[in-house]
Parts: sequence; structure tokens; C-alpha cells
Amino acid sequence: MSSHASRFLKWSLLFGLTLGVSATAETTLWRDPAQPADVRAEALVQAMTQDEKLQLVFGQFGSVQKRPAFYPAVEARMGSAGYVPGIARLGIPPQWITDAGLGVATQRQSAAPYRERTALPGSIAAAASFDPAMAYRGGAMIGAEARASGFNVMLGGGIDLLREPRGGRNFEYAGEDPLLAASVVGAAIAGIQSNGIISTIKHFAFNAQETGRMVASADIADSAARMSDLLAFELAIEKGKPGAAMCAYNRVNTVYACESDYLLTTVLKNDWRYRGYVMSDWGAVHSTEKAANAGLDQESAYTFDAKPFFGAPLRQAVIEGKVPQARLDDMARRIAYAMFATGLYDNPVAEAPIDFEASRKVAQAAAEGGIVLLKNAGVLPLTSSVKHIVVIGSHADKGVMSGGGSSTVFPQGVNAVPGIGPQGWPGPVVFLPSSPLAALKSALPGATVEYLDGADAKAAAAAAAKADLAIVFASQWSTEDADHDLNLPDGLDDLIAAVAAANAKTVVVLQNGGPVLMPWLDKAAGVVEAWFPGAGGGEAIARVLTGAVDASGRLPVTFPASLAQLAHPALPGTDANGKPFAIEYTEGAAVGYKWFAKNRSTPLFPFGFGLSYTHFSYGKPSVATKDGRLTVTFDVTNTGKRAGAAVPQIYVGPAAGADAAQWEAPFRLAGWGKAVLQPGETRAFSVSVDPRLLARFDSAARAWTVSGGTYTVSLGASAADFRQTASVHVDAALYAVDSFAKQ
Ligand code: BGC
Repeated sequence: MSSHASRFLKWSLLFGLTLGVSATAETTLWRDPAQPADVRAEALVQAMTQDEKLQLVFGQFGSVQKRPAFYPAVEARMGSAGYVPGIARLGIPPQWITDAGLGVATQRQSAAPYRERTALPGSIAAAASFDPAMAYRGGAMIGAEARASGFNVMLGGGIDLLREPRGGRNFEYAGEDPLLAASVVGAAIAGIQSNGIISTIKHFAFNAQETGRMVASADIADSAARMSDLLAFELAIEKGKPGAAMCAYNRVNTVYACESDYLLTTVLKNDWRYRGYVMSDWGAVHSTEKAANAGLDQESAYTFDAKPFFGAPLRQAVIEGKVPQARLDDMARRIAYAMFATGLYDNPVAEAPIDFEASRKVAQAAAEGGIVLLKNAGVLPLTSSVKHIVVIGSHADKGVMSGGGSSTVFPQGVNAVPGIGPQGWPGPVVFLPSSPLAALKSALPGATVEYLDGADAKAAAAAAAKADLAIVFASQWSTEDADHDLNLPDGLDDLIAAVAAANAKTVVVLQNGGPVLMPWLDKAAGVVEAWFPGAGGGEAIARVLTGAVDASGRLPVTFPASLAQLAHPALPGTDANGKPFAIEYTEGAAVGYKWFAKNRSTPLFPFGFGLSYTHFSYGKPSVATKDGRLTVTFDVTNTGKRAGAAVPQIYVGPAAGADAAQWEAPFRLAGWGKAVLQPGETRAFSVSVDPRLLARFDSAARAWTVSGGTYTVSLGASAADFRQTASVHVDAALYAVDSFAKQ
């Protein structure tokens, strides 16, 4: 009997007999949806030939059709990110892979017409909404569009912590805090996968900047890593259960992420008990044996790598015993597991019509939840007493800006402002046809609303001088493959200063992917951060400006007052000229507001900050402890005259005896609530605190350790605005590294 057959028999005895299935059913057990995913995956791998296993773990770019000889058919969806052929005899569908940073993307290499789909606001806006339920709805919407477009694997969501405010992909990520990022990205992943398709958490790990992303090494100690970016991945995986994880381009502690035994096997698969598969980023594979043995399960798009490393070379490595057969089986088993666990195997995708109006409403609601009001010197919301408004700049007459790179989504209809930015990769700049100007006009029928493109600052200032109020739209495009500086481009700072000098009632609406500096802040009467606001962005901006909906977003990232305040005042690797360099994350887990609090720096706007059109008062929190978990309860009252969204935040930090020196910062975000309160309404909130947020990671003990002592629980409106505090004693505790794994 071959070893293959003997293992099958052993497996059948183990599972088949205990489950009481017949001899015939045993051979096709993977087809039975009533069986657990792991049982089906094992049965499927047992039934696969070596060729089939090798095929399953070897992907190609969806837009280039260079196929190895053994591929049965090429049926990629053109213009997509990737494709792995199916295995019809086993019922394994092809993997049709699309990017998902904003929605169903189209690689611009494909010929027009582009795949026209609905763009959500950037993930940073989802984080700003502090609303996981909204993030789930967004994920569910883009997942439904993916399914209707014939895709069954989505490459979202990005969750690298925002360590580099100049990072080109910050709009694809969810800010600087591990808990907030995990809550919204985990929810978005669950939403995508509610469509019976796979979602991919990425980029594992520490791909915080684009500069030197193919060569840089992100260097960080294990303990700090586990308490920062890795914690974000860990919590999001627990919550969203993504079928796939994508290893990053960069190196981590000198080792390529896709060859890192530490990241892929020790942390992800062993410590977190992750059951899904690891796919490589497009062009992130550098070896066969090293990558395979480190834990890479799929070479996603071999055309991007220097040469194919899986496929024939992997077959040879297995023959030579350099990669164990068991490792190849494990790769196939993990992909199969993800297909069964998500429903992909049982629910074949098929192209179907899309209800764009319904999708746009989801995107608009997401934008409304994430827009942050940063400054309001009594000018907002706009009222009917404002009779003459001048709107300036950023093509506000046509649409709203969206993010670039592989996540680029082409809107239904046309790019509202074609021809801007790079026309090749990573462009073009896409404007979604949702005009803030048109939306403002229809919301304010009694006012004259005129538009100037802002190209001539003097003309804009002159028009502003004659108006009751001016609104300057200022955009900074950001994209994969390029970082940017923190000043607005194209002379926008000067334009804003000129308009604000001409009219004291000047409101600035920002569309961008992360923090910017605001040299004109003192002169502006209002500032609104709209991020890249997605398919219904124009309407959402108008509704926030007019107060039809409260400004309910809060910053998921600290806006610095100057570069000097950052952990890395200069962008690492700027002068590396393509040569390898290290990004020394010596700040460790003190990312964003933690860095600012530790250094007692005052930012331009703190993490968690955002104004409402009403006001809230905060009651004293009470804290209960049970099994090492804190539950914080408190009341919030709307003390103003309008309904509005409260986003009370809970921060925890060590006090007496609680080993403060071991913490990366004085406090950490431990939870929050979000609710719309009517005038005078009081609402009770309850926040449950994960023990890891009271712990430090002890690398030697391989455990989360909580020091016994007193902790301070603060209730605040931002990381720099604590309104109430309470103290609580917490007993010492130790949680083994794998004790939170649930998958
Ligand atoms: C990006 C990934 C993306 C992939 C496929 C890469 O350039 O880094 O995030 O999923 O391309 O398009």
C-alpha cells in the first residue's frame, strides 16, 4: 500500500468511522457541507494528486496570461489581481482574486472599459467612524459586488499600524491603534466573508511605508512587535477569521516577510493557531525552499517574482526532500480549509447584476460616519442665513478624490476628472462622480453657491471676499508605491491662506489619506477631514456641512504639529537609492498617541478627537473585574440642543505598583462606545477590556503578563481630553501566548 493510501485509511478510521459514514461517502467526504472544515480539508488533500497540490499553491497575475504547461485552462478575470485555476474533478473552483482596499478594483493595465464598481471611503475613514458595525456593512457590500463580479478571493483588509504619517497606503490601513484597527478591519473582513468568499488580511507585517518597501527591513523587538502591529493582526484575525493572510514585501528583522519562519510559523500559525493560508504579496517571493519551509502557502503571482519559485521548482524541492511532502500537503490543506470555512467551495460565484444605488448608499453612510470635524469657530453647520457661498477647488463641481495603486476602483460611469496624475501605474487619480457642489446646492436651495477651480488664488480670494462664506476643498492624492510629505500639494496652503485672509468665514474640507500639517489653521474658521470619502462622498460632505447628519468621526491617528514631533522626523530610506536599509522602530509599541503621551508632546489634533454639533457630559466610570477582564460602565449625556453622536473612549494605564516602567506609554485605548443621543438624553455604555491591553508581552516567558497593582481607567473625548477617571486593582496574571486563539 502506498504511503498515500495508508494515510488515507488511517484518516478514514479516525474520522470516517467515528462519524459513522459509509465507505462510498468516505472517498468524497470533502463534498459534504455538514462536515467540519478541517475534516473536509483533510479529506480533500488526501484525494489530491501531487500535480493538483502544486497547482493549488501557485497563482498568476490576473492581467497577464503566462501559463505553465500543466495549467488546464486560462480563465482569469482580466484586469484583476490574480488567478489560480480550479480542479474540476474535485469540485475546487478557480480562485478569482481581486483587490479590495476600497472595493472591487481594476488593475489599470487592462484595456477599457474598466470594471466599474462602488468605492468605499478609505479604510482610515472606517477607523474614524469608530463603528465596527458600519465597517461590517461596508465589507458586506464590496464582498457582494465581488461575488457578482465573479471574484471569490478579496485582498482586503490592510491593517499595518500607521507608524509613518507620510505613508502612501495609510488610506488603506486603519490608523495607529491596534484595538481600533482590529475592530474595524476584523469587522470588514467578516462582512466580506459573509458573502461566502475569502478575505485576506495584509500586509504581514510592518509595511508602514512605501519608500524602499521591496528592500527595507523593519526592525523591532519581539515584545514591542507583539504589543503593536502584531496585536492588531492577532485581534483582527480572532474577530474576522480571514481565510488568507498576505505576507509583505519588506523584510522584518532582516528576513523577508515571506521567508520569515518567525512571522509565518511561530507567530501566525503556532502562537495564534491560524488555520488559513499565507499568500505572498505580488513580487514578494525570493526563494523556494526557504519560503516554503518558513510557512508561505501560496506564491500568488509568479509573474511578479524574479522567477517562478513554486510550481516546477517546488515539485523538485519536494522530490529532493528539501521541502517536506507534509509541508506541501499543509499548504494545500490550508487553502482547502479556507475554501470550506468561508463557504467558497460550496457557493460558486457567478456574475450577476449589481444594485449600484444600494451600494452607493452604504458607501455614503460609511463616509458620513467617518468624516471628522476638526475645527468649528461657529460657522458650521451651514444655516439658511448664509445666502452666498463660494466653493473653491479640488474639482468639487465634479466629484470626490479616491486613493490609488492596486486598490484603485473605477466608478460607475466615468472617472469624473480624467487625465490627472500618472496615467500608468499607480494612477490614474480617480475622482468619483459625487459632486459636493451639486449636493450643497440641492441642500441649500435658498443660497447662491458658486464655484471656482482655485487655480488663481487671487481670483478665489476676491470671490471669497464678496461671499458670506467660503469653502476650500483641498485634496492630497495618495497611493501605493509612493510616500508623500505632510504639506498639502499644489500650493494649496497658499490658496487656503489667501481665501481665509479675504473671508474670516472660511471652511477647509480635506480629502486625503492621513495627517497633514495646517500652517493656515489659525485663520480658518472651520476644518473638516473627509478622507477619501467614497462613492457617496459629495453627498456625505454636504450633509455634514449642513448638519443634516452630525459630524461623528473621530481621528484614528494623531495629527502632528510638526515633523520634529514624530518618532522618525525624516522618512527612513529616502536616500537609500534602492539599496537595502533598516527602519529602526526603536519607538517599539509607542506608536502615534502613545509616542506623543510618552514624550508629553502636544499634537495639532490628538487621536480620538473630533467635534460634534452638540455637547456631551461624562459620568464617573465604575469598574468591575472578573477573571482578569475589566468591565467599565459609565453614562454619557447630550447636554446640547441637537441630536449628536457621542464617541466616549476608555483608556487604561498603570498607576501605583503596576509596573509602569514596562509600559510603552502612559496609557492605551481599551475600548469605546458610539451612539446618537437626542438632546437631554443619557445613555449607559459598557466597555469590556481585553486582558492583553493591561499586559506586556514577555518574550522570554512567551506570555502576556499583567502586573498586579492599581490601574487608572480614564473616560475621555480623545487621547488628550480625559473627563473622568477611576482606579481599579488588578491581580497579577499570566496568559500563555496561545491562550487567546479561538480559530
Ligand atoms: C500590493 C497588494 C495587492 C497586490 C495585488 C501589490 O502591489 O502590495 O496590496 O493586493 O499588489 O494587486
